[in-house]
Amino acid sequence: MIPPDLSLEFVRVVEQAAIGAARTMGQGDGESADRVAVESMRREMESVAIAGSIVIGEGERDEAPMLFIGESVGTGQGPSVDIAVDPLEGTNLCATGASGAMAVLAAAEQGGLLHAPDVYMEKLVVPGVARDRVALDAPVAENLAGLASALGRDVDDLVIIVLDRPRHEGLIADIRRAGARIRLIGDGDLSAGISAAVSGTGVHAVMGTGGAPEGVLTAAAMRCLDGSIQGRLVLARPSDADRMGKMGITDLDRIYETEELAPGEDIIFAAAGVTRGTLLQGVRFFGDGIRSHCLVMTTRPRQVRFIDTIHVEDRPAPIIRF
Ligand code: FBP
Repeated sequence: MIPPDLSLEFVRVVEQAAIGAARTMGQGDGESADRVAVESMRREMESVAIAGSIVIGEGERDEAPMLFIGESVGTGQGPSVDIAVDPLEGTNLCATGASGAMAVLAAAEQGGLLHAPDVYMEKLVVPGVARDRVALDAPVAENLAGLASALGRDVDDLVIIVLDRPRHEGLIADIRRAGARIRLIGDGDLSAGISAAVSGTGVHAVMGTGGAPEGVLTAAAMRCLDGSIQGRLVLARPSDADRMGKMGITDLDRIYETEELAPGEDIIFAAAGVTRGTLLQGVRFFGDGIRSHCLVMTTRPRQVRFIDTIHVEDRPAPIIRF
């Protein structure tokens, strides 16, 4: 069993990645923002008492700096832990100062997270209550009707998040035709997925194709929140087949359920806001310190915590405000 206290260690890892990235906010330089987040995460991970192995590193697809798949992290002493990271989810959001960027990490016992290649994944994320009412292959209108009935509302009350990409033209038309409302986002389908599983956010589902690493991270979050994601890997480029093959994935039609993407018994999910989002505040810098906001969740025990931390500067008589 992975000690649940490790979750607080991972909080400081995502916090440092978020703080590093937040310093670059609005500089228009996504690559530097990514690099700072990766380096901060790697540095902070060095002192975590685990024999950790990165199973999902983000960035290969867009050639961004990344924590490499297979890289060992932690002190090497302690439980063997598989780790999936997205040190800066929403690179462009951070580079432009837009809302919703965050630093993310998921951990599980060995084999507890699918070793997904950095390709695209078609996804359908809904709250747990609608799990059995939707199917990735079903017509959009049917899924929306099932979701609406599971939530006890009408289809035109629903808000569906979709990445604003040309590839989603047909999907968007189908959702509109069915009568649901849509929020198009520039980036960040992982934080959107988390919002869909949390009641009161005004988000009811995420539909469309985004990154597979983000899909596995979403599944880890869904395991903690009792939400649901269904995903299917997408062959977008000839080199993707090779990437999938290297990870032992041969069945390209397979639809993965939440428990297949993140099968671990002991899952820890930690995210820290870089810029302000639906669930998390961004990093705030003030003269006497830095304030960060994290979401940390575990499957054993079932806990969802929000942690609001003030990192006080080492200077005489710092002023801390509520
Ligand atoms: P980054 O972590 O690379 O910033 O990913 C942002 C993101 O919008 C994800 O949330 C999403 O899954 C993916 O990129 C979509 O990829 P693309 O921008 O190629 O459509």
